[in-house]
Amino acid sequence: MSIDECQLVDLPRIQDPRGNLTYIEQNRHIPFEIKRVYYLYDVPGGSERGGHAHKELKQLLIAMSGSFDVELDDGSSRKKFHMNRSYSGLLIPQMIWRRIDNFSSGSVCMVLASEIYSESDYFRNYDDFLAAVRNKRNDEAQF
Ligand code: TYD
Repeated sequence: MSIDECQLVDLPRIQDPRGNLTYIEQNRHIPFEIKRVYYLYDVPGGSERGGHAHKELKQLLIAMSGSFDVELDDGSSRKKFHMNRSYSGLLIPQMIWRRIDNFSSGSVCMVLASEIYSESDYFRNYDDFLAAVRNKRNDEAQF
């Protein structure tokens, strides 16, 4: 997976003087079926979340409130995103290491996920993640 496949997705916005509305339909605005939703909230200042990659899981991250930074790493390149709009989602494919920090006070990070929770889908050690990325690239280079 390349860092170029990590993209910001502009979600539909119905602007209204009574308040704006955004909606997300699976397989239309995001390229997977949503099997799980979770969110980070009450994050103390200075906290860091993430610090792992997933073998199969794809995710869309949205700053529902406030802001935070997401640093993504495909094993050779890194990219940083500042998330602060509830109509903008960050698409993270499988095999991308992520760190989330710089949470503003009261921020909420919602995640739409392509799979239900499975601890065996995680790389929690960066060196293991790098080794898996290199193995995959070597396998692909042989074909
Ligand atoms: P983790 O994915 O490491 O959190 P983050 O990436 O936001 O820092 O998950 C933290 C803990 O919560 C870990 O013990 C697993 C558990 N967890 C679930 O039980 N279900 C879930 O859907 C998620 C995302 C985490």
